Amino acid sequence: MLKASVIGYGYWGPNLARNFNNNPEIQLKWIVDSSSERLRKAFLSYPFVNLSTNISDVLNDDEIDIVAIATPVATHFKLAKDALEAGKHVWVEKPLARSAKEAEELVKIAEKKDRILIVDHTFVYTGAVQKIKELIDKGEIGEVIYYDSLRVNLGLFQTDVNVIWDLAVHDISIIDFIFNGIKVKKIMSVGMTYANHLKESLASINLVLRDNKYIHINVSWISPVKIRLALIGGSKKMIVYDDTEASEKIKVYDRGVEVIQSPEDLYKIWVQYRTGDMWAPKLDNREALAVEVDHFVDCIKNGKKPITDGLAGLKVVEVLEMIDRSLR
Ligand SMILES: NC(=O)c1ccc[n+]([C@@H]2O[C@H](COP(=O)([O-])OP(=O)(O)OC[C@H]3O[C@@H](n4cnc5c(N)ncnc54)[C@H](O)[C@@H]3O)[C@@H](O)[C@H]2O)c1
Repeated sequence: MLKASVIGYGYWGPNLARNFNNNPEIQLKWIVDSSSERLRKAFLSYPFVNLSTNISDVLNDDEIDIVAIATPVATHFKLAKDALEAGKHVWVEKPLARSAKEAEELVKIAEKKDRILIVDHTFVYTGAVQKIKELIDKGEIGEVIYYDSLRVNLGLFQTDVNVIWDLAVHDISIIDFIFNGIKVKKIMSVGMTYANHLKESLASINLVLRDNKYIHINVSWISPVKIRLALIGGSKKMIVYDDTEASEKIKVYDRGVEVIQSPEDLYKIWVQYRTGDMWAPKLDNREALAVEVDHFVDCIKNGKKPITDGLAGLKVVEVLEMIDRSLR
């Protein structure tokens, strides 16, 4: 039985605690939060778990195998570094760190210490994103042309990161997974701060990848409604992924456009539209975090590399940095 700890019991930490606690191969032993008020909340759900305001209690506990970090982004690096150096397997919330330099150092320490470092790019473990990758890999939608996403809601204004590091990080990690990598050729992003808040709360990101796939991501914390919609266009079919749908999150449309050059006159083109059927594939609807915790346990027990390992976390942070540079 692996013994686990959760550091940070704010908004997301309770989801980690619940999923670690529900996993039959894990015993949740510690919950740490610098706020004793948050620890009182944790006690109500987990009266049998040790509580502390300081991670050193966990790092000094030789029985602990896993440290899961769900604190604000600015604190990830120090906490993850200390945990890896103490010989623990580490789960870090997205984004892995505040800079590529920090992320790279974490990757190196994990390697040196031979510990598993997993980054919680949660969407990668959803039935929907797994299905999208399967459809793309099987060639069902043809050659991928674009990924166009709208991820907006009345969000919590973060103090240490902007809306790109909070929300677009999900799209970047999804893209890296479904396209087997994300190599940026061109980038243009614009963002806006709202009122007196110093971090961008609205942003529009345009990327062209080296293989000419076009990416557009629109993120906002000041939208009246929550929208989680991505359109993925292929030369054969197109996917509509609506994460707010209870079921049928993915719809595959046999629709597209073909542009044909006239053989007689090179200046003439014919545009043909195809409007075929739509179908909604069946998805694995297990909670993504439960799938991810299972995967983490498998990696620890069998020395496997996590799908969203430190390197995947680093790649995502590198793209986030590029987007920020483009904004400036
Ligand atoms: N995977 C996802 O879909 C998802 C969703 C939401 C948030 N997150 C990530 O989870 C992390 C936390 O976000 P949140 O929204 O829960 O933030 P939050 O502010 O609600 O909670 C953070 C908690 O950490 C505690 N804390 C801060 N510094 C600490 C320290 N040094 N030691 C111990 N406790 C400390 C705070 O008291 C607070 O209770 C962020 O990295 C965020 O990006 C991921």
